[in-house]
Amino acid sequence: MNGKEIERHLFIVFGATGDLMHRKLLPALYTLMTSGPLEGKSVILGVARGDEMNDEKFRAMAHKTLVDAGLLDDTGASAWCEKCIHYQPVDHGDAQDYTELKGRIEQIEHEHDIPGNRAFYMALPPQVFQPTVERLGEAGLNKSAGWTRIVVEKPFGRDLKSAQELNALLHRFYKEKQIFRIDHYLGKETTQNILFFRFANLLFEPLWNRDRIKSVQITVGEELGVESRAGYYEHAGALRDMIQNHLTQLMTLTAMEPPVAFDADAIRDEKVKVLRAVAPISPDDVVFGQYAAGQIDGETVPPYRKEHDVAPDSKTETFVALCLHVNNWRWQGVPFYLRTGKRLKRRMSQIVVDFHRPPITLFDSFEDFDDTINSNTLVMTIQPDEGFDLYFEVKSPGQPVKVKTKHFSFRYEHAFGKLAEAYQTLLLDVLQGDQTLFVRADEVETSWGIYTPIVENPPEPFLYSSGGWGPKEADRLVEVTGEEWIMT
Ligand code: BG6
Repeated sequence: MNGKEIERHLFIVFGATGDLMHRKLLPALYTLMTSGPLEGKSVILGVARGDEMNDEKFRAMAHKTLVDAGLLDDTGASAWCEKCIHYQPVDHGDAQDYTELKGRIEQIEHEHDIPGNRAFYMALPPQVFQPTVERLGEAGLNKSAGWTRIVVEKPFGRDLKSAQELNALLHRFYKEKQIFRIDHYLGKETTQNILFFRFANLLFEPLWNRDRIKSVQITVGEELGVESRAGYYEHAGALRDMIQNHLTQLMTLTAMEPPVAFDADAIRDEKVKVLRAVAPISPDDVVFGQYAAGQIDGETVPPYRKEHDVAPDSKTETFVALCLHVNNWRWQGVPFYLRTGKRLKRRMSQIVVDFHRPPITLFDSFEDFDDTINSNTLVMTIQPDEGFDLYFEVKSPGQPVKVKTKHFSFRYEHAFGKLAEAYQTLLLDVLQGDQTLFVRADEVETSWGIYTPIVENPPEPFLYSSGGWGPKEADRLVEVTGEEWIMT
């Protein structure tokens, strides 16, 4: 976010033959390197296990990825891949491979005139993360003549203890300012804009508290099921996969106090304060669900338990709804409802800020007036159809007197055209050394502290039909405070 000058560097991806590299990293890097701020600044070194891959084959694979993504024409090998992409096989536990890796890095830096600036991106499954970090550190690859940064993908631990262990491991070799823990929701323009919306406009901030706000609802719904990721998801579930990170980040940005400065530590200090104010979650405030069969876009889809590699008696939750109580001066008594699920009716990420109703209805004296005065609602849509909507009450013209709910609407696409991919934003920030959109060690641990009791003692999931909005028990969760899930 800081727009600093980017120095020439080597971008080293561990897990370079994996899914993340192909779906997200390579398309983002290519776009930035060919027509963006990384032009002439970046060279990629892919690292993965297995000798069957080499420079030539890896470049062909990268070329195919970029053709499939519609970024390159399918006309033979690309000069860009030849020039900018290299490959080095490394077995995650083998010290000798890391000595060779070091030699290869130095050789590429020499050839491309790179002054020792290195970004290591760990697109690795959790079980190989630890040996990789250790071998990198032992080989002296945690420092260089320029800067060295390490980017760590989620999941960052499975609970508080494992997150603490991961932090301790990283801190053995790296300073906190070298570590970039990714949560891709923070890279979404609309997520970043929560802070701008709140702190660049005076209109809402005086209302942003328990006196005026009744509840906050954060929903991240997906139409997709588990797809081919059961190997990971069976052991993760929606709480670890989505709530502990993405939805909690949206919550902290919505709830935090104005930072003393717009910089990484000032912002993250405020986010941690919100997390520290979250009260222990009562078991009555958590609902787990798991998708059964149903219809998505007119097509019948199977239940979770019949998905590939899922245990037929799996208890893994694909849906979570819960209520957080932020016990601080600003938010005491305002429920923050978080809800996410796979195979829901549609893909939709929204933060709904629901204001109190007026204390009395003045219009009851009009003949036949039986309308309910609805509360004002601000809806921040993170995706798709990114934007804001503010709902308010108006008198509909004529007699008898009627009140209707209408809204002001702002859509990013109308105002600014297509938004950049989150990964482009986050990769640039890594290369500029800006940690504002990355999760600090204490932040990830405080967040795990909130959810670990649930992880250790999970409720039974209720089955829900695919293509709906989750189990009805989740509706009861909000009904306790006289509310309902607000959908727009
Ligand atoms: C990932 C989760 O972090 O986020 C996935 O592991 C989920 O299960 C994805 O599908 C959702 O991201 P987005 O950007 O598509 O909302």
